[in-house]
Order: sequence, then structure tokens, then C-alpha cells
Amino acid sequence: MSELLEILKFYKEIGAEFVEHMELEFGEEQQVDPRAELEAVQREIMGCSKCELHKNKKNYVPGEGSSCPDIIFIGEGPGEVEDNYGRPFVGPAGKLLDKMIAKMGYSRETVFIGNIVKCRPPRNRDPLKNEVEACMPYLVRQIQILNPKVIVCLGKVAMNNLLGVDYSIMRERGKQFEFMGIPVIPTFHPAYILRQQTREAISKAKWEVWRDMEKVLAIVRRAME
Ligand code: URA
Repeated sequence: MSELLEILKFYKEIGAEFVEHMELEFGEEQQVDPRAELEAVQREIMGCSKCELHKNKKNYVPGEGSSCPDIIFIGEGPGEVEDNYGRPFVGPAGKLLDKMIAKMGYSRETVFIGNIVKCRPPRNRDPLKNEVEACMPYLVRQIQILNPKVIVCLGKVAMNNLLGVDYSIMRERGKQFEFMGIPVIPTFHPAYILRQQTREAISKAKWEVWRDMEKVLAIVRRAME
């Protein structure tokens, strides 16, 4: 194709009539379609056997949402309900996440929700190092395609694996980090809120997450100025 383009350009330069009105810059100006690119990654995920996790899963959970989101939310990996449906955060923790996203002025359709690993680890254990290493290239490509204004890591597993660190979520939540030049804000996993035993503890955890989300929204606003 590029050879043909070069030949046509040559004829245009020397004034040949048959190329006079042709638009010959399409090769260089071709637009990439993020939705199509995202679907290509999704198809690869759906056939993945790079680690043991695919053997016991019911469904791959590639992630879902907008193909040009302001915000990506990243969890650790599918749980039982997510494994059943092939969709991220659709269990009890997901219901809470939905509410938080709505309070931020977004919806599941206008953000992107993904995970560090795309198959459910047995009994919801943390993903192993080799499982994360096998799956991470998918997330990296999703982030490259989506190019969000900010990434939210939901919990310690998401934060440590995305950033390649070993931090405490208690200490680091709400602080700003960076991944591939994109701001990252870690916060508590919604399941952490659900695990709290008293009403006071639940309110405190929710309030802390909301303070982190205010930082996320401020980053989005600044990026749009
Ligand atoms: N917890 C996660 O980390 N991810 C999901 O998709 C669901 C629950």
C-alpha cells in the first residue's frame, strides 16, 4: 500500500491529471479506533492460557466501559460473581463501587473498570507473581489504548502490582503516583468497606475513600483546563 502511495504522490508532484484531485495523505493521517483496539485485546484475553488461572475459571473477565474514559478503576481480580458473569465488579463490592462512581458524576459506561488479573484466582486468593506477570501486558495495553486522565487502584493488590511496589494501602491511599505518565491514586478496595464491623468504621472508611475520589476528580478537572 505505501509503495502505491509513493507512486501516486510522484505522479501528483509532476502534475499528472489523473491524481490531481486525489487525497493522498490518508496513510499518514489514518485514525486509530480505540474501541476496535480494545476489542482486539479482549479477543486475545479470551483465548489466553499464559498461566494456570485459565484452567479453573468459568469466564475471562477482560474489563469493560468507555473506550475514552477520564478514569480507569483497577481491582485485583475477578471474584465468584464476576467469574460467573465474565464482568468486573458485579458482586457486592461492585454494587458499592457503582454507587461511588455515580456520586462522582460518572457511570460504569463512562469510566473503565478492569483488574490486574483477568481470571479468578482459586478461593479469591491474591494473584501470584507469575500470574500477574503473565496478565500485566494486557492491562498495560488497555491503559495505553484508553489513555485516561487518572487511574484509581482499588486496594493494596492493585496498587502494588500496578506500581511494582510493596506499600501499605493504609499509609499510601490518597497519595498521587504515576504509571506510564498517568496519575495514579490508590484507595481502599470496596470489599474493605464491606468488611468493617461497626457503623462508625464503615462511615470512616467510606469518608476516606470519598476524600481520595475528590483528589481524583480534581486531577480530571485540571486535565481539562
Ligand atoms: N474484586 C476485584 O478486585 N475485582 C473484581 O472484579 C471484583 C471484586
